[in-house]
Amino acid sequence: MHLLNVKFVTVILLLILLGVLYSYIFRAYRIVVSFEQKDKIPVDRAHDSSLVVPDQPAPHADFRAHDSSLVVPDHLQYEQPSIVKGNDVVTVTPWLAPVVWEGTFNPVLLDSIYRPKNITIAATVFAVGKYIMFLRNFLETAEQHFFVGFRVHVYVFTDQPKEVPMVKMAAGRQLMVRSVPSSKRWQEISARRMEMIQTLIEEKLFKSTDYIFCLDVDSKFHGRWGTESLGRLVAVVHPGYYRDKRSRFPYERRPASRAYIAPEEGDFYYCGGAFGGLLQEVHLLTKTCRANFEADAQEDIEAAWQEESHLNRYMWTNKPSKVLSPEYLWQDFKAKNPEIQIIRFSGVVKNYAEIRPNV
Ligand SMILES: *[C@@H]1O[C@H](CO)[C@@H](O)[C@H](O)[C@H]1NC(C)=O
Repeated sequence: MHLLNVKFVTVILLLILLGVLYSYIFRAYRIVVSFEQKDKIPVDRAHDSSLVVPDQPAPHADFRAHDSSLVVPDHLQYEQPSIVKGNDVVTVTPWLAPVVWEGTFNPVLLDSIYRPKNITIAATVFAVGKYIMFLRNFLETAEQHFFVGFRVHVYVFTDQPKEVPMVKMAAGRQLMVRSVPSSKRWQEISARRMEMIQTLIEEKLFKSTDYIFCLDVDSKFHGRWGTESLGRLVAVVHPGYYRDKRSRFPYERRPASRAYIAPEEGDFYYCGGAFGGLLQEVHLLTKTCRANFEADAQEDIEAAWQEESHLNRYMWTNKPSKVLSPEYLWQDFKAKNPEIQIIRFSGVVKNYAEIRPNV
């Protein structure tokens, strides 16, 4: 070959190499920047929120980044919503999130949509001090009713790992025990849950888990709790207040607290004893509530109902994408109201003086 040709080919090859290198570096740079801009854990699991019924082709990939959070400006004034109208149930919120009641969904259809997604659902419970006595019942009834047929990982936080009962779990379901220090005040146990859930998500879950539910251990399942409860951010309406005016909700009422909600503000009173959603959403929730709780503590403020107050404040600005009716956390001592056709999960009757280290 002619010498000139060889030089020419070498130059062309060099140019191609440079081009490849440039685009490689540029792409790497873009990825780094986009991670820095987001104050979120990287989304390692593809969270496909499409509702594909078997036998249909998958839809196209997203073209724009879809931030589907429903953040409302602070102190926006509007009429109080309700999940009942007389003895009828209301099945949608004013921000168009479904309110899940018996009769609003088809469990066979929903299960068939979620099964091919091969999802993993984590559940957390805190069995600290004498609350360990509730664990067996919780675990055994979860086996019968909570996401039956799906991969479920239950994380038990306890100060007595040896007392965790051996409950037989179905294939694909696992029990994981995490040690926590014991505490003299139940308020503190309750307050530090957000921190512990945040840490669990960061250390263990984000590569393996799609959805997470954080549940109270002093409760048990009586009926189905399954795929109908899945959503980006999920809250349960408290059974004790859903017919009350919001000025009577036990929100934190001191403006100095970061959990403060004014008498004419708020949607529903949500349970601290059950909430959940996509892993990265619950991560953001726990991180925010924990930061607000700790900032309050720096100023010697403890919100009226600790984490429940902060959770309610969070959900008021960050609207849940799905609201679960009080079927999803009833209280055993409460008579069933006419609109309640089924109780799925319920707090057991307990004597606080007997189980709490302080009252
Ligand atoms: C389903 O998920 C599990 C755990 O993440 C994984 O081991 C398994 O290979 C997955 N199955 C399919 C069919 O993708």
